[in-house]
Amino acid sequence: MFMKKILVTGGAGYIGSHTCVELLNAGYELVVIDNFSNSKKEALENIKKITGKDFVFYEMNYLDREKLEKVFKENEIEAVINFAGFKAVGESVEKPLEYYINNVSGALVLLDTMKKFNVKKFVFSSSATVYGDPEIIPITEECKIGGTTNPYGTSKYMIELILQDLYKSDNTWDIVILRYFNPVGAHESGLLGEEPKGIPNNLMPYITRVANGTLDELSVFGNDYNTHDGTGVRDYIHVVDLSIGHVRAIEKLNKENSGIYVYNLGTGTGYSVLDMVKAFEKANNVKVKYKIAPRRKGDIAVCYSNPSKAKQELNFKTTKTLEDMCRDSWNFQQKLND
Ligand code: UFG
Repeated sequence: MFMKKILVTGGAGYIGSHTCVELLNAGYELVVIDNFSNSKKEALENIKKITGKDFVFYEMNYLDREKLEKVFKENEIEAVINFAGFKAVGESVEKPLEYYINNVSGALVLLDTMKKFNVKKFVFSSSATVYGDPEIIPITEECKIGGTTNPYGTSKYMIELILQDLYKSDNTWDIVILRYFNPVGAHESGLLGEEPKGIPNNLMPYITRVANGTLDELSVFGNDYNTHDGTGVRDYIHVVDLSIGHVRAIEKLNKENSGIYVYNLGTGTGYSVLDMVKAFEKANNVKVKYKIAPRRKGDIAVCYSNPSKAKQELNFKTTKTLEDMCRDSWNFQQKLND
């Protein structure tokens, strides 16, 4: 267990807030920063409500070097988990500069500040998107990365390269790169979850909005893929399981003095779009209207992980079922409308 604090950037966001809960529950002390560009202040209150624990908070942009230095001066920080970053694939195509500045420059400012204060333990949120069109299924960490098709994905890929170069230049760094598959679900309390702005791009938030009548029907993007029912297959992972993966990553950094480690965080099971629709209907006893639509540009047929490395080296194993993911997503959505 670290004696000092963990800095969590983007701690009010979807994955950040759930991870704060798991870290606090595990006994870690936190410093959280967020500028609420894609999150709400209430998330911080809800983290406290769920855990009964408090943490230090700064409202700021992680690109603000002066303020960031102040955070490092005012707190004894031992490790950093970086959740700050934009994540909407479509938006990244429209606004590439914003994405590269926020994601890549942000990570650079953060790493450079860490270096200045001699803090060298870092957990980075990467994505399965770095595998592009994957070489093999299930995807192992050894698969080639690159070939990303949008600025969001490319920003994750670029930061991974930067981290590898950084470690080569100074092997006292201690870095864990986590490649997330498809995070879904919400905290079982219904107090934390994902609230995308506008019309959702991702499948699960779209399904919840069709189920509650905010949106008319789901467009299933393609039913002519080479999969069991023709629709796209993904590795959906409950956000609480994913968050526990970060606690395991911190434990790994605790154990190791230095190194750079890469892990897939997924369940290892692929479900199709229609599997998801059916599971959601069954878990929640609601109807999800859908139609078959053309394929979405940039989508691949199948993407799921081989989760063995995280199991072996991090002792990480998912426990939540597809039913849990569907039930918790719906519970959160309903509480939002209350
Ligand atoms: N889908 C639909 N209709 C929708 C939305 C999605 O049929 O309205 C389908 C997609 O075609 C795909 C599946 O549901 O087959 C999942 O789509 P998502 O948009 O939820 O997720 P993606 O797998 O496309 O992308 C996600 C994250 C990215 C991340 C990527 C990593 O959104 O940030 O996983 O593999 F980069």
